[in-house]
Amino acid sequence: MNVSIAVLPGDGIGPEVVAESIKILECIANKFNHEFRLITADIGGCAIDKYGTPFPEKTLTTCSTVDAIMMGAVGGPKWDSPSNKIRPEDGLLAIRKALKLFANIRPVKVYPSLLNATPIKPEILKGVDILVLRELTGGLYFGKPKKRWTTTRGRRAVDTLKYSEHEIRRIIKLGFNLAESRRKKLTSVDKQNVLETSRLWREIAIEVSEEHPNVELEHILVDNAAMQLIRNPATFDVIVSENTFGDILTDETAVLSGSMGMLPSASLSELTPTSAGKGIGLYEPIHGSAPDIAGKGIANPIGSILSTAMMLRLSFGMDKEAICIEKAVEKTLENGYRTADISMGAETNATTSSLGDLISASIGSDF
Ligand code: IPM
Ligand code: MG
Repeated sequence: MNVSIAVLPGDGIGPEVVAESIKILECIANKFNHEFRLITADIGGCAIDKYGTPFPEKTLTTCSTVDAIMMGAVGGPKWDSPSNKIRPEDGLLAIRKALKLFANIRPVKVYPSLLNATPIKPEILKGVDILVLRELTGGLYFGKPKKRWTTTRGRRAVDTLKYSEHEIRRIIKLGFNLAESRRKKLTSVDKQNVLETSRLWREIAIEVSEEHPNVELEHILVDNAAMQLIRNPATFDVIVSENTFGDILTDETAVLSGSMGMLPSASLSELTPTSAGKGIGLYEPIHGSAPDIAGKGIANPIGSILSTAMMLRLSFGMDKEAICIEKAVEKTLENGYRTADISMGAETNATTSSLGDLISASIGSDF
């Protein structure tokens, strides 16, 4: 297969982890005889510095012509003052909106070899396999009005939480479709005891469930979801939630996997799990730019590498290539290699690039 990929390394540790994903792609290209054409473009703080905007026209043009997008992370202290009008994060929101990437899939897996890297008891982590589906182009992040102003009685600010039926229905439908191919349970997260948008969300979830009689639909309030994810994580299969709740809950689920550095994500436009190849996908680790460790070569590249596996599977239908990467990651962890974030109780014996090399070597060898 011959495909083109836009590479948006971004800021902080973004370029460091993306470099490892590129290494992995080269291995896969060699092993399976594919050609991946990579086109690099700017997003986030580095784009503000070069072009005065976090999502330049040129980047949009590049992303509109490729088959998939690989991203690192955006943001950093340089652009972080609350009074700043132009922010790196706006670039990420803009690309999600421009490419209509409404569905953010964040799988949460527990690696037996990393059990001691998490603060959670091993018996609670047994059997944890969660897929969080986060609505990505609506809600508080995008609703208007969104502004700050000064009145005679002090400063004020407003954000708007807004959802249309269409936006809710399409993400919930995808949630059911994903649950159909897994353990057939969908947990819909809301705050319907307070929020009107949540009451609409719940109503639509119930309507869509009528088309999926063999999937169990469970509703859970977001505050309770935050607790159950730590207390009883193995009871979840697919979780579907609106934008902000999903953002918060997925950082929490990262604790189950051992580190923020472990979790991949796929942001998809109109694409169902069974129609690989249609629509554009953007693939990025869920962690941010981690400015405190940027430039030190110690970031965990696994979230980015597993995002690459998701890209191969969902955008290109390359199932065996994706499995090959996932197995190589598992094997490397089983062999005891750890970056600092996952070395709790064990030795830190890998850097960003040495872990990338080890995973590459494992892909190269047969297992
Ligand atoms: C994420 C990040 C982003 C988000 C930020 C960087 C805008 O936290 O992808 O989870 O909130 O969506
Ligand atoms: Mg987040």
